[in-house]
Order: sequence, then structure tokens, then C-alpha cells
Amino acid sequence: MKLLVIDSCIRGELSSTRRLLNRFLEKFGGEYDVTRLVLTELDLNPMDADELKKRNDLLSEGRSDDKMFKYAHLIKEADKIIVAAPYWDFSFPSLLKVFFEKTAVTGITFGYTESGSVGYCKADHLVYLSTAGGYIAGAHLGAEYVRNLVGMFGINNVSSYSIEGLDIDPSKREQLLEDGIVRILSAAKL
Ligand SMILES: Cc1cc2nc3c(=O)[nH]c(=O)nc-3n(C[C@H](O)[C@H](O)[C@H](O)COP(=O)(O)O)c2cc1C
Repeated sequence: MKLLVIDSCIRGELSSTRRLLNRFLEKFGGEYDVTRLVLTELDLNPMDADELKKRNDLLSEGRSDDKMFKYAHLIKEADKIIVAAPYWDFSFPSLLKVFFEKTAVTGITFGYTESGSVGYCKADHLVYLSTAGGYIAGAHLGAEYVRNLVGMFGINNVSSYSIEGLDIDPSKREQLLEDGIVRILSAAKL
């Protein structure tokens, strides 16, 4: 079983979200064939006109196996997916959006029929992990974005877990984080 991990923790080893992710993987990752994408270590650039043209040309030639589609294929082939991203400006770091731009590819992750779009991905669960400095009032727009996008890919089971309030009192951060990790590990499934 393939587990795709999308690590969007920009602060690397300093990241609380990565700590949550690593503990989640210690508990749940053992039985899977894990591919971990650390987005800060990839050569990701926002889609520009040249890339869009190349992509459309390749797709019209039926060359969806080109390496520019590797992330779309990883999403398509995963049995489970974990996204880990800090809560930034009501959603997530822009690098994660850049990554997802590479994965929404017609004919790989989804397609169009006369009655609308259809998803081609087989993952039966996506888990979205985040930590926030304050409180997430209402919907987590980052998690909701991912829920909507992967819904189009055919992945309809999305669980979101957040640890909130970490920046409010620095003296309490460590305890809040640890308590949050324990809470999530006992409530979550993969
Ligand atoms: C650029 C940036 C934007 C942020 N935006 C928010 C925000 O909108 N709401 C919030 O509660 N915290 C916000 N924070 C605080 C982070 O969510 C918080 O510190 C989080 O724990 C960071 O996760 P990390 O340790 O994995 O980087 C922001 C932090 C940064 C650096």
C-alpha cells in the first residue's frame, strides 16, 4: 500500500507541524510504502506561460508519462495521502499551492465527461495536519481547499486535524503542542 506524504513544513526541523507529522508517521506509517515529498527540497515554481504551453502540448500528444507529470502520477497512484502544512494567512504556505498546480492534470488525476468532471485517483483517505499560532475561527480554508481539490480527483474522504493557539503564550507552546499531538494520535486513523 502506497502512502504519499506531502510535507509543506517551510521551517523544516523547527516546524511544529513537522513534529506532528513525524509522530503521526511513527504511529501509522509503518505498514506503508512511504514516499515523502519535502516541498522545500523540490524545484517547484509557479506555473508560467511556457510551462502551461509545454503541459498542453504534451497532453495533446498523449504524452502524460512525461516527467513533468510525476507529482500528478504520485497522487493518482497513492492509496493514502497525508498533507502537513502550517496554518498561514488563513490557509497554507504558497508552495503547497504551487505543488497542487502540478497535480491537477486533465487525463491523469481527473477528466471531463458530458456530465461533469470525474476523478481518477484511488486514495481512500487524505489526512490534513496543521498547527496554528492563533485560533482557526470557522472553516480551515487550507484544509477546505484541499478537500475540494482532491474531491475533484475522486478522493472524498478527507480528515483534518489542527493544533491551535501555539503562539499565544510562548511558555505554553511546548505543552500545547505535545497535548495536541497526543489528542490527534488517539483520535485519528489513517
Ligand atoms: C507567514 C505566516 C503566516 C501565519 N498566519 C497565521 C494565521 O493566519 N493564523 C494563525 O493563527 N497563525 C498564523 N501563523 C502562525 C503559525 O500558524 C504557527 O506559528 C504555526 O505553529 C507554525 O507552524 P510551524 O511551526 O510548523 O511552522 C503564521 C505564521 C507565519 C510564519
